[in-house]
Amino acid sequence: MSHPVSPDAAEAAGARGEHVFVKSFGCQMNVYDSQRMTDLALAEGYSETSEIADADLVVFNTCHIREKAAEKLYSELGKAREIKQARAAGGKATKLVVAGCVAQAEGREILRRQSAVDVVVGPQNYHRLPELLRARGAVVDTEFAVEDKFERLPAPTVEATRARGASAFVTVQEGCDKFCAFCVVPYTRGAEVSRPSEKILVEIERLAAAGAREFTLIGQNVNAYRDAEGLGLAGLLDRAAALPGVERLRYSTSHPNDMDDELVAAHAENLKLAPYLHLPVQSGSDRILAAMNRRHDAAAYLDTVARVRRARPDIAFSSDFIVGFPGETEADFEATLGLVGEVGFASAFAFKYSPRPGTPAAEAQDQVPAPVKEERLARLLSLLESQRQAFNRATVGRRFGVIFDKPGRHEGQLIGRSPYMQAVHAEAAPERVGLMSEVEIVDVGPNSLKGRLVEAA
Ligand code: 5AD
Ligand code: SF4
Repeated sequence: MSHPVSPDAAEAAGARGEHVFVKSFGCQMNVYDSQRMTDLALAEGYSETSEIADADLVVFNTCHIREKAAEKLYSELGKAREIKQARAAGGKATKLVVAGCVAQAEGREILRRQSAVDVVVGPQNYHRLPELLRARGAVVDTEFAVEDKFERLPAPTVEATRARGASAFVTVQEGCDKFCAFCVVPYTRGAEVSRPSEKILVEIERLAAAGAREFTLIGQNVNAYRDAEGLGLAGLLDRAAALPGVERLRYSTSHPNDMDDELVAAHAENLKLAPYLHLPVQSGSDRILAAMNRRHDAAAYLDTVARVRRARPDIAFSSDFIVGFPGETEADFEATLGLVGEVGFASAFAFKYSPRPGTPAAEAQDQVPAPVKEERLARLLSLLESQRQAFNRATVGRRFGVIFDKPGRHEGQLIGRSPYMQAVHAEAAPERVGLMSEVEIVDVGPNSLKGRLVEAA
């Protein structure tokens, strides 16, 4: 595999004892991209630091999905500038990189507003980071790259993979063709592209060999995955399930319209697939769903939920909601509460609508006043929280596999996640870290479940 890391540069940075600090904002796709940028820096000889003041290379991997992303970034950059100046006074140079979706959306504007920035790089171009860092003067790279970024990224080292725990993200698809009226993703991440399945499977195999056990296949619209040979997400999950070391699989995020019969059937047939599905609906009102250009109504969503439940009766759902989309009335909002009541979610995210520059909904005249959004958000969150608590309580007495990934707060405890993404703590020997253990849930707290190890018969 060719990537632009030069062994000389690696030696040089290594010899100088240089450090990289990467801060990730936003979604799982960004977490993955941040890890890959870290891998690039490690291959260039940097070592990782969690202290920004120690970093010779600082990367902010930004998110543009909701409000104040740009403002938050500029305030972070202001602080980073001070650190850069203080380091310069001590004779140390600092390279400051802005990556991710704000970089893509704002481009050169970032350099104009914060001259301490050295590199602005979009999500499709960060494989070029080593070259960009070597450039003289500040550079902006946000043209969608024609070459395959993944081909040019170094594989993560065994040590880096271990340090990231038993649960790994793997990007299988990028971009989105859906153009929901509120969303910047089709503009910042571009059109849907699926990675070749062989490449993905090799990546999973490597991560598994380094100790990862749970794999979340991620993409902006992951269930639209289809490679050049016509393999869809269900087929990819099947092949991934057959790889040694792969114990649990998830995928995120999905559009309801792309839950085809094959993928629904995978929930019955693929035993490694966790019985948990993040399926954003955004609203329960048909009028608002149409205005959002979601291309389905509430009944179609409920039907999809029912199909997946028939395939996998113990499945639990999570979702995303937007309140206060332009034109949303009290009746529309109540339809959302009604849908939540009908489905019963194990957990969910809810957001106030935030006008994103360049998206159709931002231009709408009938914006909902901020206090109305606040009030609806509070009501929706309270309903979702009561459903979450009820779901958690209902797991008491159940047994399932928990992959422990770190020590708990108390001596002798480990923490891991249930198939439903709940945090579970139990008394267990440290050797169990990274292993799937059978656990019975014995109690429930506000934010985690208490489990008891079930000894293998
Ligand atoms: N305003 C509020 N929430 C948004 N989301 C996406 N765009 C916006 C916006 N403009 C939410 C959606 C999506 C999640 C990732 O973020 O609910 O599913
Ligand atoms: Fe954005 Fe998701 Fe709609 Fe695509 S499907 S436009 S990523 S909300």
